[in-house]
Amino acid sequence: LISRAFKHQLIIPEFQEFTDHIEDIYWKCKDNTNGTVASYIPQLKRMSPNYWGVSICTCDGQRYSIGDTAIPFTIQSCSKPLTYGLALDLLGDKVVHKFVGQEPSGRNFNELILDYNKKPHNPMINAGAILICALLKTTVAPEMTLAEKFDFTMNYFERLAGREDIGFNNAVFLSEREAADRNYALGFYMREHKCFPDNSNFKECMDFYFQCCSLESNCDLVSVIGATLANGGICPLTEEKVLKPESVRDVLSLMHSCGMYDYSGQFAFKVGLPAKSGVSGCLLVVIPNVMGICLWSPPLDHLGNSCRGVQFCEELVSRFNFHRF
Ligand code: DON
Repeated sequence: LISRAFKHQLIIPEFQEFTDHIEDIYWKCKDNTNGTVASYIPQLKRMSPNYWGVSICTCDGQRYSIGDTAIPFTIQSCSKPLTYGLALDLLGDKVVHKFVGQEPSGRNFNELILDYNKKPHNPMINAGAILICALLKTTVAPEMTLAEKFDFTMNYFERLAGREDIGFNNAVFLSEREAADRNYALGFYMREHKCFPDNSNFKECMDFYFQCCSLESNCDLVSVIGATLANGGICPLTEEKVLKPESVRDVLSLMHSCGMYDYSGQFAFKVGLPAKSGVSGCLLVVIPNVMGICLWSPPLDHLGNSCRGVQFCEELVSRFNFHRF
């Protein structure tokens, strides 16, 4: 980073000027009191609606954070593009897409539907993510126990985040599992239609999905994960190659078309950036070849996206030419 700075080769040379804008947008969005905090489990319901954090990490490692960026939250559905990336890297897209499609579902993220081929529509909705977890659990190194598989996956998340510790919230995991009637229904429905890979242990696959949702991090670190995706799979802080560029391309393509629940089409139109939101109020945004952004604020709109997070993105592209088109 320092040598790039001396050579005047920074991706964002006027970083201070840029972050002044980010700060300005941050305060503007802070006034937005729309939305409600998820209440299906007590651990999420207890989250203050006032939390609001924004973190940025560029592809050459410049960083900026403002607000509640060190407070831990469970990454929930923001784990979906990441487990999908791991499955692509280890199994290849041909194998992965035998089990899950690439089409937006046009329905709620947990709706009880499959596509015309009796596969989940895509890996960004619950059914697809459950199947990705089944592939990681059953098809990749099947001899590994659930505990070993969890360690392996956690280690992968840490490498994406620049070898920083990622946490696990056991209370959220236990609550998710208790409140999972719909996810079990999705699982049974997929089992009825023989969607799972052979030899899958249904209970272990479901547990693995709940565990991935219950991984815990903060805005600061999730922005580094975004930067690793923005940088073609190489973490800008450690320079470690965590994912193959072709896996990252597939992940970003589906984040672009399917990452924002049933707002994905409008988000792709208005903001034009790959993003994934989670029920804890996190929003992972990737500006390819430029930066990763993490936005976190628990109040959600009626589709499940963070109100402040979406407002931030719309404001960002109105000031900067980041829309892909
Ligand atoms: O699986 C669930 O229902 C929760 N853990 C919600 C995950 C989430 O963020 C919503 N996602 N698509």
